[in-house]
Amino acid sequence: MEKALTALVQYPLIETKKVMNEPAKKNNLTWFNGYLTREDRERLHGHKGAVIWFTGLSASGKSTIARHLEKMLYDRGCSTYVFDGDNVRHGLCRDLGFSPEDREENIRRIGEMVNLYVDAGIIAIAAFISPYRRDRKRIRDLVGRDRFMEIHVDCPVEVCADRDQKGIYKKARAGIVKNFTGISAPYETPKDPALVIRSHREDPVESARQVLDLLETQEIIRVL
Ligand code: ADX
Repeated sequence: MEKALTALVQYPLIETKKVMNEPAKKNNLTWFNGYLTREDRERLHGHKGAVIWFTGLSASGKSTIARHLEKMLYDRGCSTYVFDGDNVRHGLCRDLGFSPEDREENIRRIGEMVNLYVDAGIIAIAAFISPYRRDRKRIRDLVGRDRFMEIHVDCPVEVCADRDQKGIYKKARAGIVKNFTGISAPYETPKDPALVIRSHREDPVESARQVLDLLETQEIIRVL
């Protein structure tokens, strides 16, 4: 037992240049470092950690494409996880609604979470309306440009409304659901996305393949 412990302490702890933020200082918190780096974990997975961020209107097809992409990556032996607006709002963000402030907080929490996944060396696939450019930019700044791929799932609002199985567009048009993106709340189109998917013209499997190609060209995953 003593021998095993001695062996362990020979490894140097990783030094990070983590900048302390105000709440952390106030609460006497310091960043905990282990023996491993992100690069160590990435080596284990056989690919880099990254965030694939799908943004677009409700029922534009974000989650469908995300699911196909996850399966394709799994079949190639990649470690992934899909974060989806509806799912995350069942738990982590169940206290939040759809006011601009609540959406900002929703995306902030997801951003912090996917950033940890990147540190874990995992490919985090996120599917959120995320209507505000500023909120999306914050995540890109947090995660780093080379690890964040913003993908605009672009679909006319009439097509989204036709596809919608929940009947929520109908309610939004009737004013029963307030602040509804595309109807009574804004959607800010990405200015410089890594990819635009016209989901009313493309098949979701084909769209997922395009993202897979992008991950190869960005050297997140190996070319087969
Ligand atoms: S976001 O704007 O904060 O990014 P998010 O992706 O988490 O939204 O949640 C979207 C889901 O909430 C969709 O399934 C959508 O149908 C549902 N929803 C309920 N109310 C609204 C609303 N007012 N605006 C947009 N989506 C809503």
